[in-house]
Amino acid sequence: MDARPEPFVPPAPTPRTQPPSMLEVIRTVMNNPLELWGEPSYNEPWILTKFLNERTLIANHPGLIRHVLVDNAANYRMGVIRQLVLRPILNDGLLTAEGEVWKRSRKAMAPVFTPRHARGFATQMLERSGNFTARYAAAGPDGGIFDVSRDMTELTFDILAETLFSNEVRGSDDGFAEDVDRLLSTMGRVDPLDLVKAPSWIPRVMRIAGRRVMAKFRSIVRQTMDARLERMKAAPDSVPEDFLTLLLRQMGPDGLSEQEIEDNLVTFIGAGHETTARALAWTLYCLANSPAERLEVEAEIDRVTASEPDPVKWLDQMPWTRAVFEEAMRLYPPAPSLNRRAVEEDVYTAPDGKCVTIPKDVTVLVMPWTLHRHRKLWDRPGAFIPQRFLPENRGGIDRFQYLPFGAGPRVCIGATFALQEAVIALAVLLGRFRFDVLPDTSPWPVQKLTTQPGGGLKMRVTPRG
Ligand code: HEM
Repeated sequence: MDARPEPFVPPAPTPRTQPPSMLEVIRTVMNNPLELWGEPSYNEPWILTKFLNERTLIANHPGLIRHVLVDNAANYRMGVIRQLVLRPILNDGLLTAEGEVWKRSRKAMAPVFTPRHARGFATQMLERSGNFTARYAAAGPDGGIFDVSRDMTELTFDILAETLFSNEVRGSDDGFAEDVDRLLSTMGRVDPLDLVKAPSWIPRVMRIAGRRVMAKFRSIVRQTMDARLERMKAAPDSVPEDFLTLLLRQMGPDGLSEQEIEDNLVTFIGAGHETTARALAWTLYCLANSPAERLEVEAEIDRVTASEPDPVKWLDQMPWTRAVFEEAMRLYPPAPSLNRRAVEEDVYTAPDGKCVTIPKDVTVLVMPWTLHRHRKLWDRPGAFIPQRFLPENRGGIDRFQYLPFGAGPRVCIGATFALQEAVIALAVLLGRFRFDVLPDTSPWPVQKLTTQPGGGLKMRVTPRG
């Protein structure tokens, strides 16, 4: 008989059994879109429906998803709402660029995101994670209580600022982290006028407030770039090998313009730390509720760090640590929804002969949130079972049923960087400390830009001794 206790089932909204009214849809989209989806979204391979008066295809079938994101990707553009929210911030950065600009930028950026460069950042990731734990050590042998969600954002931001700019930021008066925070909270939100498709000449109040913040932010990025360009001219051999230098080397007629480099720096700041932070926080929370799995992870970290000092090797040598992170991203995908729009009518035929016609201009929602919890694709979909992602079991997971980083030509360019960062950060955090929930730790998943623990994530952090 299996003596293991029942796996932990972390909090998630109960699927709706009745369709919501239009008003309820708008309210839920504004507050927490994760609460919108009904039973069919967790059971059906696809649903062609009307959503906010817009024809929408919810795609949960791995074959259909592969068709949209890979095989016929040329027929799909980025979703309208996503572009309305993100383009004013990111402009022609990789996440929001389309067509020829995207193609040229992605090609120019490939050398920046090679596994070799990601490995080059491992030492900074280790150092920054180590420095960060000073706050936990300072709490003494009985530990202290911390908002781990906020902490993980600080940690991943610190790692990003180091790997992006070597922390050589110019023109920020009261801290770059605060500037980023202000930018994302004022600009990165859906405006109700966008949802009801109000014409673009009607001013969006939320974005007007964000415009000044945006101008200040762009000026900081530009000053930082200019200072580095000067340094590259004056002393090319002594500049740090960070993202900024690597990107500036791609400047040129076949590569990136100065404006595109600025857009991409803003994009990396927007896309490159909050995602990883959320997944780390959910990992710590799920593990704190899964004592047997926590022991496995701690034993692995103790064993590997004792014999292998090079953090570059940890991603391969810590399958349990990687598995808990991947399982947390299954349950709480940092990017819960990928939105596309069909350029022309399209048809997908599944291997069993079932067929779906995808009309021109339809919005296609590929939602890691519902896909990763789909009843027909996963055994005990709501439970935290990291064993699924151990190398010996991984073969049972279809490439297109697990999409934390997306897939196809627009797959996350920072995936290797993020996985390496997560495993190193977890090795440092869980190697030195125990993270426990308190009686009132009850995070609720809320979709803002990412899937975040609403109300924060208060935990007790104690040295492991
Ligand atoms: C756990 C961490 C991360 C997650 C879960 C994540 C998730 C994703 C997803 C799902 C997409 C595809 C979006 C779509 O198809 O609509 C994406 C794209 C992207 N990500 Fe990440 N990301 C993470 C970390 C990073 C990091 C660290 C960086 C940069 C340093 C980054 C930069 C980007 C960029 C630039 C794109 C756009 C790629 C393109 O369209 O060509 N991401 N990410």
